[in-house]
Amino acid sequence: MEKMNIAVCFGSRSVEHDVSVISALQLMEAAEAAGHTVIPVYISREGLWYTGNALRQVETFREFNPMGKEVQRVILDISSGSGDLWAWPLQKTGLFGRLPDPVAHIDCAIPVFHGMNGEDGTIQGLFEMAGIPYASSGVLGSSVGMDKIAMKQLLRGAGFPVLDFIWFTRDQLEKDRLKIVERAEQEIRYPMFIKPASLGSSIGVSKADNREELEKALALATSYDRRILIEVGIDHPVEINCAAVGYGENVQSSVCEMPVSAGDDSFLTFWEKYLRNNGAKGPQSHGMKSLSRVLPAPIDAGLTHRIQQMTVDIFKLLDFRGTVRVDYILDHNDILYVEEPNTIPGSMAFYLWKAAGINFPELVDRLIESAMQAFADKNRSVYAYDSTILQKVTAGAKGSKG
Ligand SMILES: Nc1ncnc2c1ncn2[C@@H]1O[C@H](COP(=O)(O)OP(=O)(O)O)[C@@H](O)[C@H]1O
Ligand SMILES: [Mg+2]
Repeated sequence: MEKMNIAVCFGSRSVEHDVSVISALQLMEAAEAAGHTVIPVYISREGLWYTGNALRQVETFREFNPMGKEVQRVILDISSGSGDLWAWPLQKTGLFGRLPDPVAHIDCAIPVFHGMNGEDGTIQGLFEMAGIPYASSGVLGSSVGMDKIAMKQLLRGAGFPVLDFIWFTRDQLEKDRLKIVERAEQEIRYPMFIKPASLGSSIGVSKADNREELEKALALATSYDRRILIEVGIDHPVEINCAAVGYGENVQSSVCEMPVSAGDDSFLTFWEKYLRNNGAKGPQSHGMKSLSRVLPAPIDAGLTHRIQQMTVDIFKLLDFRGTVRVDYILDHNDILYVEEPNTIPGSMAFYLWKAAGINFPELVDRLIESAMQAFADKNRSVYAYDSTILQKVTAGAKGSKG
């Protein structure tokens, strides 16, 4: 593949900011190994954009110093087709007051955000506007994938098996607390899982076995999100994950993994997912790598094939792009449910690809390829339409719409 300027974009205003930093550090290494020029683009917790070499080291983020060495504040030129990053504040130099050259030019962006303001379609929309190819699902797939309520409704509508759930907003809960609690007890029953609609990494997710726990779980979930769902809980679930990569008709699935929970019937909490084998901090934290998993998942060939096919089907249905990981749950009767797709999975699910014979640098090239294909595809569509409406209208703006 042609070598490019790859902007690896990460961080952002999200409760999963730190996980994103870890995923991005891994991906930057892989992108460099693939021969590309890496442009780190870090969006701080406040939403400011930075670039610079220091952003390739985990130490920089322990206590982020925007004035630090090799850290430079930038802004993206969002004029369509520019792709330039400019030093901020913009300063004219020289005799004729010209602007200096841009700090960097982006050929393709790889969004490595988790959660809000990055995985949810927002930055994807920005890249669409700016005409920058980007290696993640588009606005539709990203936003549907982020909202567990919309996503489950859509999957169910398309005939995929999902666990029963009810949903409501924080406002409704404040008004009709008892009604909603009673409805959950009647329709969902204990054990149930209470979740904010648009978070990840198990943040704000809890299991409730009785009303007291339900009340607590609701308080927690509503502190993170205004849309909440309550889902049928599976005791001792077996979890299976499978990834897919590609674009359009050209989609490939990975091997399946079975993440293993150490606690008895405790679900995979944030701590277990990211910190269990590393202590709470430490430079050797490798994100999803620290999680214990069985790879490939010890399930029979028939089920493996079904899960891989389902993953590809879901990928196509939701118009995903780049690499996505779809998580499944098996109950004690071995009935399979789609749990959720993750449109920017932790560590880009590189370990699933490695097991499928695609190393991380190759995966990066696949991601870029999907971005370039989608970009070319979009440019095939027509964006101009010759109408005579402007010629016909004489009367200013008023009344022109009638
Ligand atoms: N209905 C359920 N029954 C049993 N375990 C669940 C259920 N829903 C979620 N879990 C557990 O909680 C974890 C986090 O839930 P999930 O919906 O995947 O949220 P997140 O987006 O935060 O990853 C899952 O990986 C699984 O271990
Ligand atoms: Mg999950």
